[in-house]
Amino acid sequence: MRFADGFVGRRPRGRQQGSSKGSGGKRILPLNQVVDCYLARVPDALPTPIDASTRYCAVYGFPVRHSASPAMQNAALAALGLNWRYLAFEVPPAKLREAIAGAQAMRFVGLNLTVPHKLLAAELVDAMDDSAKVWGAVNTIRFETQDAAGQWGPASPSAPAASPMRSLGFNTDADAITRALREDLEVTLRGATVLLLGAGGAGRVAALKLAEEGAAKLFLVNRTAAKAEALADELSRRFPGCRVELGYPGGTVDLLLNATSLGLRVDDPLPVAAGAFDLGQASAVYDMIYQPAETALLRAARAAGCRTANGLGMLLYQGARALEIWTGQPAPLAVMRRALTEHVYGH
Ligand SMILES: NC(=O)c1ccc[n+]([C@@H]2O[C@H](COP(=O)([O-])OP(=O)(O)OC[C@H]3O[C@@H](n4cnc5c(N)ncnc54)[C@H](OP(=O)(O)O)[C@@H]3O)[C@@H](O)[C@H]2O)c1
Repeated sequence: MRFADGFVGRRPRGRQQGSSKGSGGKRILPLNQVVDCYLARVPDALPTPIDASTRYCAVYGFPVRHSASPAMQNAALAALGLNWRYLAFEVPPAKLREAIAGAQAMRFVGLNLTVPHKLLAAELVDAMDDSAKVWGAVNTIRFETQDAAGQWGPASPSAPAASPMRSLGFNTDADAITRALREDLEVTLRGATVLLLGAGGAGRVAALKLAEEGAAKLFLVNRTAAKAEALADELSRRFPGCRVELGYPGGTVDLLLNATSLGLRVDDPLPVAAGAFDLGQASAVYDMIYQPAETALLRAARAAGCRTANGLGMLLYQGARALEIWTGQPAPLAVMRRALTEHVYGH
């Protein structure tokens, strides 16, 4: 079954639409989820008109035209009733330093950084939150001003022009991966056995985050063996409690996670080597790819009876956390999910 939000396969029990919880068959939702559901059902909130008080955030990438973040974030800003806008700029790496300084000088609320800027941004920000220090990569910047008592806080447009300012770097990607695995696929990460395909940027962060979350065993497979070996060394050094093996497992796994780019094109082969691993050995399969909504891997996994989900949740949760860092308010998740789905899948 394919759901409009890109989730494919069986919804885990208790997350079926119309499922009931609690007494009398009534489903009791926390208030924030009630508001979220309401916001998802009303027509799109209209953005406040741009005026001299409008504040800005933006994503910098190279290229950036494919980015779904402006659609998702502007829908959220309108739903929150903020007189803010979220823009996108194509910034070459050689200009990243100037582009960050420019946004800071204009008192932007903050920035998102996408490929290829995340590592470089970690060297350019004035300070890093723990979330960015751990991964050495920054995908979110909040601009801050310092008050008379020396405290840093979100940049205020009313702060005196001479107030010191700084850029504080965060990383919301790693948490988004595990949140998607928990919420979209209901995988219990502590003690899990995972087969991870891919040791590029996203694969490395996923492996380290899974180990940090208490995964018991990781099997690593990557086309370039040296990258998988380097990642295995890093994992063993930083998370000795997690057992790491190179190659495919002989037995079952709780999760197969595809972090390769195989599947982006319809004629791509499966990322699992033929005969090396039967998809029926995996309870759940997550593909970081979200376009197409159902890759050949997810289709085959669904046919093999696995729970499946695509990478849309990762994109959603990293954006939701960035918005919360900027606004200090809970992100309107349902509104963001709907805007993302409409932008990516056109429905
Ligand atoms: N949902 C989201 O929000 C989100 C976020 C980030 C990334 N992603 C997706 O995750 C995937 C990886 O992204 P990334 O940033 O990690 O990219 P990356 O750093 O370029 O890594 C690409 C990975 O794919 C492997 N690969 C590429 N072509 C291959 C081929 N023909 N055969 C076998 N393996 C191949 C690479 O293996 P080698 O090491 O041998 O080159 C590497 O492991 C992409 O599909 C991307 O779209 C999704």
